[in-house]
Amino acid sequence: MSKYTIAWLPGDGIGNDVMDATRIVLDAMKLDAEYVHGDIGWEFWRTEGDAFPQRTVDLLKRVNAAMFGAITSKPVKAAETELVPELRGKGLIYRSPIVRMRQLFDLYICLRPCKAYAGNPLNLKEGIDLTVFRENTEDLYAGVEFNPVPQELADVLAKVSKPFGAFKDNALDQYAISCKVNTKKGSSRIVRAAFEFARAHGRKKVTIVHKANVVRATDGMFLDEAKKVAADFPEIQFDEANVDAICMWLLKNPFNYDVLVAPNLYGDIISDLAAQMVGGLGFGCSGNIGQKLAVFEPSHGSAPKYAGQNKVNPIATILAAKMMLDWLGETEKGAQLERATAAVITEGRVRTYDMGGSSTTTQMAEAIAAHL
Ligand code: NAI
Ligand code: MG
Repeated sequence: MSKYTIAWLPGDGIGNDVMDATRIVLDAMKLDAEYVHGDIGWEFWRTEGDAFPQRTVDLLKRVNAAMFGAITSKPVKAAETELVPELRGKGLIYRSPIVRMRQLFDLYICLRPCKAYAGNPLNLKEGIDLTVFRENTEDLYAGVEFNPVPQELADVLAKVSKPFGAFKDNALDQYAISCKVNTKKGSSRIVRAAFEFARAHGRKKVTIVHKANVVRATDGMFLDEAKKVAADFPEIQFDEANVDAICMWLLKNPFNYDVLVAPNLYGDIISDLAAQMVGGLGFGCSGNIGQKLAVFEPSHGSAPKYAGQNKVNPIATILAAKMMLDWLGETEKGAQLERATAAVITEGRVRTYDMGGSSTTTQMAEAIAAHL
């Protein structure tokens, strides 16, 4: 029996290219693991009406961790037209498997390290090293949405909100509502995770990202909870910033920031911004982390136009595997993998197209494996 069982979920498009490449590296590391394939993605929505079939949910219940490539998703209406004829009209609703996975397994931490590896031609500046903690289960991604708005809800809203005062029965489809749902528990635990990370890794500062001056109820609560948690970590500097302002400040003065923590939507946005500062989609890696399970993935999608071409950069996924090794407690192996990746970036002999080179996905993985 292997020490670890890892669910292996390549998904769609280049998810397959980058996951194959990552296996080259993990196999070279001789991690004592069994990798079990799981079905996920567009193909399974199209053929079965479920992009995250129950058998894959069950697989995730019995593994130590999972690696996930990427999936294709389409707007709901487009999605329905592509369903197999027998499934049409069955009232199936397409929901993002990754959002569902995060909620089902309470993967409340989305961890996104954004580090500028020396010599990467895509670095905005050398030396950037930011870590984003994004709340991963609630906020605007809670899935509480209405379009059209039900009459009962319209009646309540008409009493409290001027735009909704104009509600008439026949106007309900003129309104759409997505609820931003935040809890004290959800706010507090993501901030605590960020501070604990800062303490464990000798980081100096945690910045809370919010818009509490305008979005008072939800972001106000997030900020209040953050302040309470910060009091338990007096040795770490506590800072706060509005989400709009920080998009400017991050670009202007990236060295003023260290660990950032934000509610779901803001975290999604600032982590893409931070990833672009250190190389873009080919470098952005992400961990969806809960108490029992963690799922690691590149931040990019399935890039259908490059699918199967052995062309895209596998580094984001390889760095996601590094995060998985750390989470499993294999920190020496994690460090070894990061050093090998950094060495290949710095040498600059093997570069995929996004870095200005012409190496293949496989060649990049083999170069990293050779440096282990
Ligand atoms: P995308 O991230 O798939 O690709 C956008 C562009 O970024 C690509 O055309 C390519 O130029 C570049 N790119 C992406 N990954 C790269 C890599 N590893 N190396 C080099 N260049 C890379 O985003 P897009 O085109 O908006 O979405 C395509 C599909 O992916 C959609 O169906 C979308 O819903 C889905 N998606 C899935 C995600 C996930 O599975 N977590 C996340 C984002 C999008
Ligand atoms: Mg995103």
